[in-house]
Amino acid sequence: MENGAAKPVIVAIDGPSGTGKSSTSKAVAAQLGLSYLDTGAQYRAITWWMVTNGIDLEDPSAIAAVAGKPEIVSGTDPADPTISVDGTDVAGPIRTQEVTARVSAVSAVPEVRARITELQRSLAASAETGIVVEGRDIGTTVLPDADLKIFLTASAEARAARRSGELKGADVNATREALIKRDAADSSRKTSPLAKADDAVEVDTTELTLAQVIECVVTLVEEKRAGK
Ligand code: DC
Repeated sequence: MENGAAKPVIVAIDGPSGTGKSSTSKAVAAQLGLSYLDTGAQYRAITWWMVTNGIDLEDPSAIAAVAGKPEIVSGTDPADPTISVDGTDVAGPIRTQEVTARVSAVSAVPEVRARITELQRSLAASAETGIVVEGRDIGTTVLPDADLKIFLTASAEARAARRSGELKGADVNATREALIKRDAADSSRKTSPLAKADDAVEVDTTELTLAQVIECVVTLVEEKRAGK
């Protein structure tokens, strides 16, 4: 655009766990001066609240009844992304095994998805220079008009190895089983499952370093901005 600020650019990055979505999205946003939103952290935050408040997570109607209660606030600076629930910083507690094991059940409830999707859309709409939003249903449901959609994949082995590295030496086989189970639940739920949008660019990261994936995505965003 001539004279003045460029149009905000909206980038959707989806894919299963362990594909390097978070590291890639954060680095791309930082490099290009964009905001960053980790939508998995929002689903983890609402799950943390449900666990902390003793909600029966076997009962979707109990989850739906309180889905509107917690106030979830995401800070979108890629250098310091934050997440709080009712004013409490939950960046640490949302990464526990208990939350990880329960987040698929909570995030499958339509009332939870409606609530979180609304938050995501309003954050994307208010990002001045643009935003990189990472998740499972961003390109398909949350931001179907995103300027660029990326779908990251990797073999189950590569994803488990990366995750167990992040979890400081956790057993690779157990991590692989848990990851496959969570992906199956996320992909098979009725409301906006993990899926590649028809117009998304698929990037298989199995054989790529993080630096290569970041470079690939930065190039794709720059090409979009240049109107190629
Ligand atoms: O990216 P993550 O592993 O922190 O995500 C945690 C869970 O949140 C994931 O198992 C499914 C759910 N999720 C979702 O349903 N939709 C999104 N856009 C992002 C995450």
